[in-house]
Amino acid sequence: MKIGVYPGSFDPFTSGHMDVLVRASAIFDKLYAAVLINKSKQPFFSTEERICQIEAAVKAENLNNVEVSCFDGLLADYAKRIKASFIVRGLRAMTDFEYEIQIYAMNRKLAPEIETVYFMAKPEYSFLSSSMVKEVGYFGGSIEGLVPKANQNLIAERLLKR
Ligand code: PNS
Repeated sequence: MKIGVYPGSFDPFTSGHMDVLVRASAIFDKLYAAVLINKSKQPFFSTEERICQIEAAVKAENLNNVEVSCFDGLLADYAKRIKASFIVRGLRAMTDFEYEIQIYAMNRKLAPEIETVYFMAKPEYSFLSSSMVKEVGYFGGSIEGLVPKANQNLIAERLLKR
């Protein structure tokens, strides 16, 4: 069974993340969307909120082989625990490449048996980031299309009420 893990902060989960999740779910038998419990970075959305966002989007798209989870500590350890042989990451621009190569190199050292695979962002999402969604939402701009429809209203309200 081909098991993959798609890890991230997902603060919040964007349409770009969803696009990667949908495309990756078609390739793996089982795919974990794993939210980083980021104690040091203090995410805006709680772990529970981020999990709910992904679960709602996964349900709306009927992605039956996707399980939403969360992890703390090293990704390599978590991937081994859930028996994932692949780590999934999305790539937007060259700026992502420098960051991703560091993550790749470290995970490779920690777990050489786990392969990292990359999905190039669709051009319409190459500008999109969680920070951008937060900034637009804070100031009352429309986040339509920037996050999955299932979560749009909840995220917009939460950002306005920050
Ligand atoms: O969405 P992000 O913030 O780019 O995701 C980064 C993530 C979660 C993949 C990375 O920070 C991570 O794996 N953190 C867990 C700690 C770890 O394993 N560090 C060593 C490899 S970077």
